[in-house]
Amino acid sequence: MQNSRLFETTTDKGADRLAVEAAAVILAAGQGTRMRSQLAKVLHPLGGLPMVARVVANVHKAGLTKVYLVVGHQSDKVQAALPDIPCVIQEQQLGTGHAVDQCRHVLAEFQGAVLVTYGDTPLFRPETLAGALEYHSAQRAAATVITAHMDDPTGYGRVKRDAEARVLGIVEQKDASDEEQCISEINTGTYCFDGPLLFQYLQKITTDNVQAEYYLPDVLPLMIQDGHSVVGFVAEDARESMGINDRVQLAQAETILQQRLREHWMLQGVTMVDPSQVWIDDDCRIGQDTTLYPGVHVQGGSTIGSGCRIGPNVRLQQTVIGDETTVEQAVLIQAQVGSQTTIGPFAYLRPGAVIGDRCKIGDFVEVKNSVVANDTSAAHHIYLGDADVGQGVNVGCGTITCNYDGRTKSRTIIEDGAFIGSNSALVAPVTIGRNAFVAAGSTITEDVPPESLGIARGRQVNKESWTKRRSQGDSK
Ligand code: UD1
Ligand code: CA
Repeated sequence: MQNSRLFETTTDKGADRLAVEAAAVILAAGQGTRMRSQLAKVLHPLGGLPMVARVVANVHKAGLTKVYLVVGHQSDKVQAALPDIPCVIQEQQLGTGHAVDQCRHVLAEFQGAVLVTYGDTPLFRPETLAGALEYHSAQRAAATVITAHMDDPTGYGRVKRDAEARVLGIVEQKDASDEEQCISEINTGTYCFDGPLLFQYLQKITTDNVQAEYYLPDVLPLMIQDGHSVVGFVAEDARESMGINDRVQLAQAETILQQRLREHWMLQGVTMVDPSQVWIDDDCRIGQDTTLYPGVHVQGGSTIGSGCRIGPNVRLQQTVIGDETTVEQAVLIQAQVGSQTTIGPFAYLRPGAVIGDRCKIGDFVEVKNSVVANDTSAAHHIYLGDADVGQGVNVGCGTITCNYDGRTKSRTIIEDGAFIGSNSALVAPVTIGRNAFVAAGSTITEDVPPESLGIARGRQVNKESWTKRRSQGDSK
């Protein structure tokens, strides 16, 4: 398998200790015009996380704690998305070299290595970044360029090497000769630099190129000229270096990311009937011997236990599920479900739904802000809102907790062992006592004491021979 290298999820906190002292600079000042979006490009989500947040997470997982973000377009929104990351403003986007130079003052005293990467290149694995930094350090290089071999290098800067394969520099697509355009080794745009040398050489670059920009890679030939060592570090998987410029590339990146995540979880013992139809955010967890059927979305840090059957067509958002539980055709948002429980088909668990073990939450059941204890059944067509339901309760078909009077929400308490007959309306606040029985069709407005029967419905009247009399003209 192509992605069999170790892959950590974002919940795998505690990055490997990096032997190299390094800081990271993430460039995210560009507008991203080709996205054709009101939203800044770097804030478009990938695997449930804004792409720049993913870059930050990758850099953190590579072991770097000192991270700076260069922002420009929609800088307030980008800053707001990453409140813990110090931002440096680049007022005018004068090129990648100019962007990095904005960090000159924050890194003035810094003597270590500087990793430069982009906010729109979110697929680099932490291992690749850490590997490049370690290589950079071992080579005692002034600069290490992460490169990749691309079948179609169009649009990228090409890596120029001499006869001994030593890196000479980068030539941008727009500045490249026909011959240079045939080079398939590209500059991924991610580099490791010796910090002090980087800022020293950034002062020397000019805008003498087709785009009249300060090109960051222009520091490389200047370093080489002065006898400093510049090396290339070839990324094992070229797809890691993919940059996102438009929504087609965004979708391609999502596909690559999902493929990694699916393979990761399958190798951990999760069965996917059709992996291409399962979507997993990368801060989720899935236990062994769980089967995911098509149309499953595991989002927002959801956790699924082992031996579960999830799907088809299930969305789990910030939801926790125990072991050996079945969820089918359902939406669960900020919900918690125990073990050996069945949810669905066609159930909707809203925030604050907490369901115990061995429960049955069946078809067309909606649960909101309610706790349902173990061994309780709510099998069909039920609304449980703001309710505390005890253990071993049977909630009959069509039961409604009437939790809202138009002004305030009130709670319904159903104690252990109670039986709620079908089509009952429980008008909150109200308590159904332990082992109490509510007759079908009741509208319960007063508490039902433990062990009691509550009936609240019109008494039935049978009029004998009524239909016969009606046909004779007497309908009384
Ligand atoms: C850059 C490289 C190219 C490489 C490619 C890889 C240069 C000159 N070229 O080209 O060799 O193959 O990346 O994807 O560096 N940015 C700023 N401020 C600026 C300019 C850019 O923050 O003033 C940010 C952008 O938001 C973006 C990143 O830097 O995230 C790359 O800029 P972009 O102009 O897209 O560079 P490329 O032309 O792709
Ligand atoms: Ca780009």
